[in-house]
Amino acid sequence: MTNKMCEMFGIELPIFAFSHCRDVVVEVSKAGGMGVLGMARMSPERVEEELKWIDAHIDGKPYGIDVLMPTTFVDNSDRKYDPEHLLPQTQVDFVRKMLADAGVPELPKSEADEIKREIVKGINFTPAESLQMIETALKHPIKLIVSGLGTPPVELIDRAHARGIKVAALAGKAKHALKHKQAGCDFVVAVGSEAGGHTGDITSMVLWPTIVDAVAPMPVLGAGGVGNGRQLAAALVLGCEGVWTGSLWLKTAQSEVMPEIKQKMFEAEAGDAILTKSVTGKPCRTLRNKFSEAWELPGAPPTLPAPTQNYLWWQEGRTRVERAKAKDFLTYPVGQIVGEMKEEISVKETVYQLLNDMLEARERFDNIL
Ligand SMILES: Cc1cc2nc3c(=O)[nH]c(=O)nc-3n(C[C@H](O)[C@H](O)[C@H](O)COP(=O)(O)O)c2cc1C
Repeated sequence: MTNKMCEMFGIELPIFAFSHCRDVVVEVSKAGGMGVLGMARMSPERVEEELKWIDAHIDGKPYGIDVLMPTTFVDNSDRKYDPEHLLPQTQVDFVRKMLADAGVPELPKSEADEIKREIVKGINFTPAESLQMIETALKHPIKLIVSGLGTPPVELIDRAHARGIKVAALAGKAKHALKHKQAGCDFVVAVGSEAGGHTGDITSMVLWPTIVDAVAPMPVLGAGGVGNGRQLAAALVLGCEGVWTGSLWLKTAQSEVMPEIKQKMFEAEAGDAILTKSVTGKPCRTLRNKFSEAWELPGAPPTLPAPTQNYLWWQEGRTRVERAKAKDFLTYPVGQIVGEMKEEISVKETVYQLLNDMLEARERFDNIL
């Protein structure tokens, strides 16, 4: 394939794969697309480790990084190692009671503090924390920096451009896409509501062409709901220069998802990818689970702002439920394509399936015309 995005990065396929897993990043780039490593759950030391590994395995193919730079957030990063003062007692008690009632064991007392310390080290949600990780990443041959939440600062864009690195940002509304364009981004990712992770409320079918028109001639990647080649073809037909995908890679043999959660995904329907603030404090599409549902029940306290709710989920909830493999509570960000994710296959096979499917869609379209 060849278009603006292929030319921008010297890639064969305008298929961008967001993943927190370095193996997926490497495999997608090697298959001709572009792997982008999500660093939101990493400390700067871990970023160094992961990028070193990628550099050693990616055969010189291009790859990128993704960070979170939200415009609205509570900056309590200086208190993140002090859970007693960071997390309000009402919400902590609510979660502890919920898990105790469900029989989910507490973390072993001797390890709890250390586990919680390690967890918060990897939760980097503020622009300042993201900039620290970017400093580390700039020592590696990255070709792309993407901001997952919010317009990247102009100074960062200028610095990246001076090194030949492209910059992009995600947008769920045309006005956000225009802000990214004005700041100097090279392209935008239009994220429809069906996407896994943080997402807005406008669906891809409506959002993609709106953003394509709003920022033209700047290229746009269509994201949210791309799980097969028909959806890839639709994105191209709607004017996108390629796709940005996340959920699709969670089912692969290389993904970071624990087997019990993968199984839960294979059993899920599209409607089980629910939008909830219970995981991060911002609307995030994630696999249906009892933790998220509990916050919707009468008498539940309000969720906390981002990223405090994220600390709460990881420190008091996620680690406990994953250790206990408590199925009802297990969750992971995933989009509505989860309903089509039925079996584990490799990253390479996933790429081939996307292409074969896309060609079939083209044939169907050609026949109609
Ligand atoms: C497990 C998971 C984690 C995500 N974490 C981030 C993140 O840290 N930063 C970000 O920009 N987007 C994140 N996203 C959203 C993706 O970048 C992308 O917008 C989304 O996956 C596209 O829709 P799809 O899931 O239907 O493919 C995440 C998505 C998933 C599935």
